[in-house]
Amino acid sequence: MSKKILVLPGDGIGPEIVAEAVKVLEAVDRRFNMGLVIDHGLVGGSAYDATGFPLPEDSLNKALAADAILLGAVGGPKWDKLEDRSKRPEQGLLDIRKNLGLFGNLRPAILYPQLADASTLKPEVVSGLDILIVRELTGGIYFGQPRGVRTLENGEREGYNTYVYNESEIRRIGRVAFESAMKRNKKLCSVDKANVLEVTVLWREIMEEMSKDYPEVELSHMYVDNAAMQLVRAPKQFDVLVTGNMFGDILSDAAAMLTGSIGMLPSASLDKNNKGMYEPCHGSAPDIAGQGLANPLATILSVAMMLRYSLDQGVAADAIEAAVSKVLDQGLRTGDIFSEGMTRVSTSEMGEAVLAAL
Ligand code: IPM
Ligand code: MG
Repeated sequence: MSKKILVLPGDGIGPEIVAEAVKVLEAVDRRFNMGLVIDHGLVGGSAYDATGFPLPEDSLNKALAADAILLGAVGGPKWDKLEDRSKRPEQGLLDIRKNLGLFGNLRPAILYPQLADASTLKPEVVSGLDILIVRELTGGIYFGQPRGVRTLENGEREGYNTYVYNESEIRRIGRVAFESAMKRNKKLCSVDKANVLEVTVLWREIMEEMSKDYPEVELSHMYVDNAAMQLVRAPKQFDVLVTGNMFGDILSDAAAMLTGSIGMLPSASLDKNNKGMYEPCHGSAPDIAGQGLANPLATILSVAMMLRYSLDQGVAADAIEAAVSKVLDQGLRTGDIFSEGMTRVSTSEMGEAVLAAL
């Protein structure tokens, strides 16, 4: 049966980077005879402008029916002032994650040797870096109830959110993390704030319990503040990190910069059957949208993750990753990874170069 892919370009630089990634997907589809059926939909601010909803029913239905989804990015200043929070672009993204049960977010941070100079950290600190952040994506403080802004008796307003995880939510992300560690260097660091937050005391307990099922994996625990520091001090001490939704959001941006540019980092968000949504870790970068300046490689590498995790096409995934490595060898760089002596290229030139290398 042919596989259905839904493409959701979103806002800002989303459409331009996704266009390049789709060309790459179509090329491997032809070359490896996958018979993919590729459809498009709206999400985020552009969806709100067109339909009044950041995740229109049509997009949600297509997403539910798809085997995998490729997403660009959502959000921008144009929609920041929307009073009704349920209409904000980011809500479209959160709703799709929640409705599809995409709880397992994999964010690899790999330093391409060709980009050692692009990192703001010393080459010896980051060279050879290869870590994987496993972020819980459909729970925690992002979704906890109650939440809101209320007015107290004295007339003062108070904002509140709830940080909550139940055992089964912790266990299922723990499973993803331990299994990932088994396929890598068998080191797992669980990040929490167990010195202050009860919810993460439970998190730590469950991770400890689960480690009995994975005797080969060396499990350690780290408070999130220390983890942030260690990530920039000595990132190579890590193999796999597992953490909750908000800590994972923050740490994955920090980890991204170790590799030179957040423009290089793909991600996968998986449900329990490995159906997934694939997107670059970066945002919609409205400041550079529409100018051909954005780096499409994170989105192209997200296509590689899609092929590997949801479509069982590991060889095609390898081919894309090799092609990306080759264009870097050729010295081609978008602005975010540009350094002296390299050739500066536009978004579409980078996409074309990857296609040629394929
Ligand atoms: C991310 C983004 C999103 C998040 C935003 C856009 C809602 O920062 O995917 O990391 O916080 O999860
Ligand atoms: Mg983020």
